[in-house]
Amino acid sequence: MADTLIIGAGGQIGRELIPLLEKRSGKDGLATADINDCPELPGFRKVDVLDRKALFALFEHERPSVVYHLAALLSATSEQNPQKAWDVNMQGFLNVLELCVSFEVKKVFWPGSIAVFGPTSPRNPAPQSCVLEPTSIYGITKLAGEQLCAYYFRRYGLDVRSLRYPGIVGYGAPPGGGTTDYAVHIYYEAVQTGRYVSFLSEDTRLPMIYAPDALRATLELMDAPAASIRIRTSYNLAGMSFTPKELAASIRRKIPDFEISYRPDFRQAIADSWPQTIDDTPAREDWGWKPEYDLDAMTDDMLGHIQPIYRLGS
Ligand SMILES: NC(=O)c1ccc[n+]([C@@H]2O[C@H](COP(=O)([O-])OP(=O)(O)OC[C@H]3O[C@@H](n4cnc5c(N)ncnc54)[C@H](O)[C@@H]3O)[C@@H](O)[C@H]2O)c1
Repeated sequence: MADTLIIGAGGQIGRELIPLLEKRSGKDGLATADINDCPELPGFRKVDVLDRKALFALFEHERPSVVYHLAALLSATSEQNPQKAWDVNMQGFLNVLELCVSFEVKKVFWPGSIAVFGPTSPRNPAPQSCVLEPTSIYGITKLAGEQLCAYYFRRYGLDVRSLRYPGIVGYGAPPGGGTTDYAVHIYYEAVQTGRYVSFLSEDTRLPMIYAPDALRATLELMDAPAASIRIRTSYNLAGMSFTPKELAASIRRKIPDFEISYRPDFRQAIADSWPQTIDDTPAREDWGWKPEYDLDAMTDDMLGHIQPIYRLGS
């Protein structure tokens, strides 16, 4: 039995969340699952969220009080395989929600995304409530998913909580196939080769957040009293917004010879359909959200962690 279960634990967010949740529940209080084999994770079981039998066995064995459901196909990967994206992101989520109701799970976290916004949404900033007509299959699954969160809360009283994450930048684990992945890759390339070819154009402004802020937001949302959670779909969450050109300039403060060039690919169309900035007033008002990192503070911290790794290796 485990207090907390993380599904999709082997990915970028799961791997960063594990040490924080371990501090709270202890190693034995934490169970993890992923479709990929990750024996190094605490209390790990290999489970496909589309395999209902295996998922049921996992819940029956662990009987968790709290579930973090992170398993999904990200935006760029989803666009390469829309059918699979629908299956994993929707049916997988439904399978988990049903089991959370059956096993009387107390709290569920499910990550939403800024991908719910589309070209008809206000872009600067995107408010909490507005027209939501996403054009990517990923955004469509995230929009349906956040409606499922509200539905399961209304219909079954399941305490599902959600954040519309912006692109998450971190050094703890590699990113999993999103449109904002460039903002992680660029740091590693800057340190290793001194140059980077961006798959987004120089002036593509997107909402981003540094991983420590995203993780803190997740835990603060999960810790908030249920009565203060007014948004039962998914909260807008803002960290910072920047373009590849601005990110390169931030890196150049520390690595003056760093060079960037631009070769936009299919991910440009996804990025162009997303907002540039996010208005997260409800998150600030309801549970006190406040980001700590701006672009330069993030760059200093990212390089501070990545540079020593490659210095040691050379
Ligand atoms: N990283 C970001 O920038 C970002 C931004 C917005 C939203 N999100 C959301 O956060 C969640 C986690 O994202 P991440 O960045 O950690 O992604 P990731 O791709 O790094 O990790 C997802 C994990 O889910 C697992 N998975 C995929 N299909 C599965 C299946 N059928 N059964 C079990 N496990 C399966 C993968 O193996 C992977 O380890 C996702 O819902 C994602 O949409 C992430």
